[in-house]
Amino acid sequence: MKYHEIIQHSAAYIQEKLGIIQNGTVGLVTGTGLGALTEAIGNQKYLPYEDIPNFPMSTVSSHAGRLIKGDISGTPVVALHGRFHLYEGFDAREVTHGIRTLGEMGIRTLILTNAAGALNPSFETGSPMIIEDHINLTGTTPLRGKNHDAWGDRFPDMCAVYNPELRNLAIKKALESGIRLERGVFLQIMGPNMETPAETRMYKAMGADAIGMSTCMEAIAAHHMGIKLLGISCLTNKNLPDCMQEAALDAVIAQAEKSSAAMTKLIRAILKEIA
Ligand code: HPA
Repeated sequence: MKYHEIIQHSAAYIQEKLGIIQNGTVGLVTGTGLGALTEAIGNQKYLPYEDIPNFPMSTVSSHAGRLIKGDISGTPVVALHGRFHLYEGFDAREVTHGIRTLGEMGIRTLILTNAAGALNPSFETGSPMIIEDHINLTGTTPLRGKNHDAWGDRFPDMCAVYNPELRNLAIKKALESGIRLERGVFLQIMGPNMETPAETRMYKAMGADAIGMSTCMEAIAAHHMGIKLLGISCLTNKNLPDCMQEAALDAVIAQAEKSSAAMTKLIRAILKEIA
């Protein structure tokens, strides 16, 4: 089977079990510790990833794997709760299997969330950061290999991966809701090791404001398919090269969970406006 046929197979099964999606359905990817976001989904129907043909299975215990269909603030949503990472050993196509599937199902708007370390010293831990642009430092891309022209161009333009209107909407909603919001450039490393102080210094010099181990692959695949994207990082820790502190996974997850109320509030408000 060709790659796009593998994806179509996953999409067909989901549609058979959960129904065809409504026009205007928004895709949602919930990052580390942000599973609480899925509790905001009303009228839930879900499929465990292991039931969906060809779906990879997450190896990270902090990422339960299920696809959830429902609605938030009156907007129909399909959420990928649990994502796949390069550091788990998946390749870039496997990492973006869920995104490609959402695209095949007809999703035209997608919200990606993640947990990220703040490189910008003025950023506050716990704040959401609107991703304005990204630096893909993984050395790979989901577009590697034969292009499926029906999805998108061989050499897609990348001048506005994160949709400016959605970014502005998020800023407006954060202001209205009294949520402190940062904006900046997100950099993806492959992981799973955190960065050294010397690397942190380099990433800052490159122009990154936040760093994490997900999202760029998904953003590239979604953008390739012409999906409008909003990316929101939850800043779980600070990475200051001259006074590096240990970033333990437990602390990252705990902070993401603590911040999930603000993230949920913001996303609810955004979806209400989109509806
Ligand atoms: N570095 C890389 N990935 C991360 C971090 C970090 O500091 N925090 C959360 N994900």
